[in-house]
Amino acid sequence: MIVRSLRLRNFRNYENAYLEFGSGMNLITGRNAQGKTNLLESLVYLSLTRSHRISDEKQLIRSDMPFADILCRMEDDSERELHAIVHNRGKTLMINGTPVKKSSDFIGKLNVVLFAPDDLYIFNDQPRERRRIMNQEITKVSPQYLISLNQYQQLLKERNIILKQEQADERYLDVIDEKMADAETMIVSMRDEFVTAVNEHMGDLYRELSSDDIRVSLRYRCCVDNKSDLRASLLRMHKESRQKDIERRMTLNGIHREDLVFEINDINLIRTASQGQKRMTMLAFKMALLRYIRMKTGKKPVLLLDDVLSELDGSRQKKLLEMVREPYQCLITATEVPEEIRKGNYREFRIENGSVRDVSGGRK
Ligand SMILES: Nc1ncnc2c1ncn2[C@@H]1O[C@H](COP(=O)(O)OP(=O)(O)O)[C@@H](O)[C@H]1O
Ligand SMILES: [Mg+2]
Repeated sequence: MIVRSLRLRNFRNYENAYLEFGSGMNLITGRNAQGKTNLLESLVYLSLTRSHRISDEKQLIRSDMPFADILCRMEDDSERELHAIVHNRGKTLMINGTPVKKSSDFIGKLNVVLFAPDDLYIFNDQPRERRRIMNQEITKVSPQYLISLNQYQQLLKERNIILKQEQADERYLDVIDEKMADAETMIVSMRDEFVTAVNEHMGDLYRELSSDDIRVSLRYRCCVDNKSDLRASLLRMHKESRQKDIERRMTLNGIHREDLVFEINDINLIRTASQGQKRMTMLAFKMALLRYIRMKTGKKPVLLLDDVLSELDGSRQKKLLEMVREPYQCLITATEVPEEIRKGNYREFRIENGSVRDVSGGRK
């Protein structure tokens, strides 16, 4: 898919900006704090209906303005206009001018994969953050996954309320466990498929990009061992932990306790990896995500690289650009035009304090 144009009104430090992107390499340059990341953030917002940086969406609205407005024209099989308005009490989402009520009907229309320096925190973060990444990526290819996830969260809340009562109603717990196992069966199989698909590429991509002969992979720390009769295993897990759940007054096992572990040669990467290896592992993961999304949806996502090229040496920059330049539309931010980009065709947009200038000239 291709993002043809983007219009921002009162979004972050943009009062009114309009950009027309090329279908290949697009470079967004500017000094620090001019609005480069803000611009990518607006596309992430259309992709996920949330920001990757903040949860309080009021911050997206330009100071002292009533709402922020993001409008993008994109193309895959057909042309489509995605429109999000963020106001003080929520948001309005529209596709081709028609309001969309459920986020799950909006997510997945524009798929982007973003790589930003902050992504490296995910290795050391709580499992919750890694689950969030996994959920986010699977949601891009399956609205049903998000629906099951929301059902599960609701059931989990109900289950925990029962467990907090003086005398837990076990017949009610039986009913909830059945429903939870239904949602979990879907979630676990999608997570399992996700990890398998990413692993098919991530190791090779790492070696190709870094020339470092180690084996990087993902491990899915699933709440059940036996995935052959998945629903029965999940149900058994909840039954077996019920007495403990009642004692501790909360649900101790389930998909809300799972984790995704990044490994180097089968050992958790946080124990041994250098900063450079972590960066390249994250990059290989993102490149594998491009393939996963493409495989599942039949459409190529748009790649967003925020301030990452300057942290790679020349040969790695070159390999990365060779890998993505042909197949994907890329939006790359940098303070200056990186040497490796200069060698090919690209569009350049210069950002200064929230205003945009297309300085591509004859290079388009
Ligand atoms: N809601 C907002 N209203 C006005 N300005 C904002 C808002 N949110 C962020 N900014 C401004 O945006 C700038 C940071 O933009 P950012 O895209 O992160 O910069 P960079 O070009 O370094 O990536 C800062 O100057 C900040 O004050
Ligand atoms: Mg930035």
